[in-house]
Amino acid sequence: MAIRIKNEREIEAMRMAGRMVARVLEVLKNNVSAGMRTAELDDIAAREIRALGGRSSFKGYRGYPANVCVSVNDEIVHGIPGERVIKNGDLVSLDFGAIADGFQGDAAVTVIVGEASLVTHGLLNATRESLVAGIAAARAGGRLGDVSAAIQSCAETWGYNVVREYTGHGIGRAMHEEPLIPNFGEPGTGPELKKGMTLAIEPMLTCGDWHTKVGRDNWVVSTIDGSLAAHFEHTVVVTEDTAEILTKAKQYN
Ligand code: MF3
Ligand code: CO
Repeated sequence: MAIRIKNEREIEAMRMAGRMVARVLEVLKNNVSAGMRTAELDDIAAREIRALGGRSSFKGYRGYPANVCVSVNDEIVHGIPGERVIKNGDLVSLDFGAIADGFQGDAAVTVIVGEASLVTHGLLNATRESLVAGIAAARAGGRLGDVSAAIQSCAETWGYNVVREYTGHGIGRAMHEEPLIPNFGEPGTGPELKKGMTLAIEPMLTCGDWHTKVGRDNWVVSTIDGSLAAHFEHTVVVTEDTAEILTKAKQYN
């Protein structure tokens, strides 16, 4: 199966889904606070996406029971919101996907609640930088390995490790399309990137071991050594220049 190129109409639908995702994540970011249960974030996401006229792409996906993923501290991705209470100093990843007009947007941000250590801030900043580096490397005529290598190089330069057991992915009518986008690799390798390819780029970085384990709920993915993890994600479309971010409230490029 080849990587699907989207036409302008499809990309416009993905911009719409992407704007909804950005808006919901913005509201979640503004509301996450110490003392709240993670389930409250799910309620907010459900309300917001409904008000925007979209729907969560996560809910019901392979039986996933919530609208959003909330992954705290050593949890990397796929945390199910529930009774857990967020504490001062927690590192909270918020991951949300929406469908609008049959097309998907998928994005994630990590936030620090209250005060946290320098290494926690460093991890968050390095993860966000790694996403920026990956997006900057995604251009028509380049290779997918350029994106992977840019993420890995940025992460390791800052002294953190990339998770290898989960990857970014192509996205479109389905949340997960070809190709898989590893957060490590070699420049100049892999499929050629073409204008109109839509990618969900999502670096996951840890302070320690990059190996992972899956929790008893069969969803939450944590670091095997209990070290902190952070996660940022954007859905982008490849152009001749730096990729256009679709999961943004406002388009800058
Ligand atoms: N954004 C994630 C991904 O890209 C989360 C999807 S898992 C779900 O795979 F089950 F919650 F949908
Ligand atoms: Co994703």
